[in-house]
Amino acid sequence: MAIFVTGGAGFIGSNFVINWLSESDEILVNIDKLTYAGNLSNLDTLRNNNKHIFVHGDICNDELIIKLLYKYKPRVIINFAAESHVDRSIHGPKDFIQTNIFGTFQLLESARNYWNKLNFNDKNEFRFVHISTDEVYGSLKPNEEPFNELNRYQPNSPYSASKASADLLVRSYFHTYNFPVLTTNCSNNYGPYQFPEKLIPLVINNALNGKNLPIYGDGSQIRDWLYVDDHCAAIKKVIEFGKLGEVYNVGGDNEKTNLEVVVYICKILDKLSPRLDGHLYEDQISFIRDRPGHDQRYAINASKIKNDLRWKSSETFATGMKKTVQWYINNLDWVESTSNKEHLDWIDTNYD
Ligand code: NAD
Ligand code: DAU
Repeated sequence: MAIFVTGGAGFIGSNFVINWLSESDEILVNIDKLTYAGNLSNLDTLRNNNKHIFVHGDICNDELIIKLLYKYKPRVIINFAAESHVDRSIHGPKDFIQTNIFGTFQLLESARNYWNKLNFNDKNEFRFVHISTDEVYGSLKPNEEPFNELNRYQPNSPYSASKASADLLVRSYFHTYNFPVLTTNCSNNYGPYQFPEKLIPLVINNALNGKNLPIYGDGSQIRDWLYVDDHCAAIKKVIEFGKLGEVYNVGGDNEKTNLEVVVYICKILDKLSPRLDGHLYEDQISFIRDRPGHDQRYAINASKIKNDLRWKSSETFATGMKKTVQWYINNLDWVESTSNKEHLDWIDTNYD
């Protein structure tokens, strides 16, 4: 048996793959299109791991996916593959519709075709885990309760609308075909290997390079931050103990304004890598034009996964952020590798 991961060269996917293979001997087939956000150097530590099989492929390509399914016979598919950046979805939504909606549909169809032909036991064991976001629930007012699994879907950006559409397709496959799906809706992740277009890695990288730290609008928007390994641990719980057809919200109980987050990063950098001119990193903060349709607040009520699946986060915001900032300071080469594609040579040595 094997497991399939899609989007495993991206931020959360690569953390998940590394984490999974550190504890398992099962074959893991990692299918990634290697868009600008996919980076094989995230998987460098797995170069000599023959349990990791990388496939440069697109989830929209049903011929390829079906071929791989029958070849490796996975017991689980975990779908991380997506266009994930809200700002890019505002400038150009088309790729989001293609991968997040059509790609999820193609993957569901390919997987259903394969699942239908499994024997009774393998059919019962099979799981399709769809990784989604808290953004599908829209934006909270200051006095509103954090999102639970019953909140109405009210996506506000092309990104969140495409993820919401995918979630609904996944849901429909359970209700219509009894196809064994599970969905997670997680809050903002941070940690190693996050592409430096997202707030936390962008701010760390800009700070170290003496550039402005751009804060959209007044920086009062709130996100609920979760360290990426805690998200990966939650997904493992869902694979193992999740109830078919159910949705699990995952979050860190760490609501912070964007300004608080940026100031916090500056203070860590002042200690770990002080500016040579003696100034504080906060001096680099610059308030810029707001994101169109900017959601004001996300917050997750994770009681269901905590109570039903016994998941809890291990990192606090303080421990997770310290690790993260230190990782980016130690891995400036990695940040550099995100702006070139030389690592694509890797495909020639390590792929199906
Ligand atoms: P990412 O942009 O870092 O990585 C996405 C990966 O998917 C990349 O490696 C990319 O090459 C690959 N990909 C894109 N289109 C593909 C396609 N058509 N076929 C195969 N591979 C394709 O994203 P991320 O931040 O790691 O997010 C992973 C998943 O988790 C996404 O579904 C996202 O919606 C969800 N999510 C992210 C967060 C977060 O804070 N980053 C929070 C909650 C949920
Ligand atoms: O909530 C989960 C979502 O979190 C995921 O589904 C998305 O894939 C992920 O990208 C993330 O979306 P956000 O839009 O919240 O993340 P981002 O890092 O782009 O921005 C975080 C906040 O910081 C947001 O309020 C916008 C703001 N921001 C962002 C950037 C890049 C700034 O103020 N300045 C910036 O330069």
